[in-house]
Amino acid sequence: FCDRDEETSQACKDLLISLPLEEDWLVPTLCLYQGFWFPSHLLKGVLAFQNHFQAQPSDILLVTSPKSGTTWLKAVLFSLLNRAKYSDLDSQQPHPLLTQNPHDLVPFLDVKLYLEQENPDLAAFASPRLFATHLPFSSLPRSVRDSTCKLVYLCRNPKDVLVSLWHFTNKVKAKEKGQIPLPECLDKFSRGLSLYGPYWEHVLDYHKASSEMPGKVLFLMYEEMTEDPHVQLRRLADFLGCPFSEEELKDGTVEGILRMCSFDNLSALEVNKSEKGSLGVENKWFFRRGEVGDWGNYMSADMGKRIDSVMEEKFHGSGLKF
Ligand code: A3P
Repeated sequence: FCDRDEETSQACKDLLISLPLEEDWLVPTLCLYQGFWFPSHLLKGVLAFQNHFQAQPSDILLVTSPKSGTTWLKAVLFSLLNRAKYSDLDSQQPHPLLTQNPHDLVPFLDVKLYLEQENPDLAAFASPRLFATHLPFSSLPRSVRDSTCKLVYLCRNPKDVLVSLWHFTNKVKAKEKGQIPLPECLDKFSRGLSLYGPYWEHVLDYHKASSEMPGKVLFLMYEEMTEDPHVQLRRLADFLGCPFSEEELKDGTVEGILRMCSFDNLSALEVNKSEKGSLGVENKWFFRRGEVGDWGNYMSADMGKRIDSVMEEKFHGSGLKF
């Protein structure tokens, strides 16, 4: 696999040879690195991120497992932090989300910036710098854990994550390979074999970090964001040290951000319907249904129960409930 990627550094090649590998349904192989399954072809970016990223105290990092609602939270965080500059009603200063996909406005460190360059120059990013990553808590660069930068973690019901991932995989994979049977995906997912999996440990580690360091890690859930977006957005603003003023609460600023970032608005924009994005896949694939509980349309009751039983075992005593 390494030979196909000419740019993979020697250190990464040497490491990959020593790691357990597994065939995957979304990417060619996953490698077990620091206790989690990383896509082998992205390991180079992970190592460069770990070795070179210097966190600044004002940095904000969004952390997710794929298909937990990353695109949505990227849009929300961008709009929240830039709300004084852009509003959806100000035609003089068009909102960047109207013409750019959230992944272009809030880049991934591991999957994009450090994958493209060993040590990218991040000087052009204005403070507070806003980035995203899929890395598990224990694999974050030391400077992220040591600095006072903030982490926003978004998680989602694993059943919806799995179904979303399954749909995404079927789109990304070459058509001639056909559809991957969902039960096969479920089996691997339940055993921890998924992008940045085990999913349970990814979630649990951030959940624990947020209870131990509530000023550093904010733990958000997709389902809570859907159910009460006002409350969650205000929580987010408070956590990031940019609470909404009384005036903003009255003048519709909160509603404006939520409207701009809503599934219906973003998915209908030309940029998100037609363009291939910076992550190398169609922007529209990041917008499917955006609903809570869609797993019920694809999984049998038995399949649902299998994930429930893993959840019960893994989340037991943590207070986590989906
Ligand atoms: P579904 O496949 O269940 O529809 P990620 O951004 O982490 O890749 O997650 C993608 C999931 O988030 C998809 O879920 C997608 O439809 C949903 N999503 C994208 N934008 C959203 C938005 N603005 N509001 C709610 N959900 C959104």
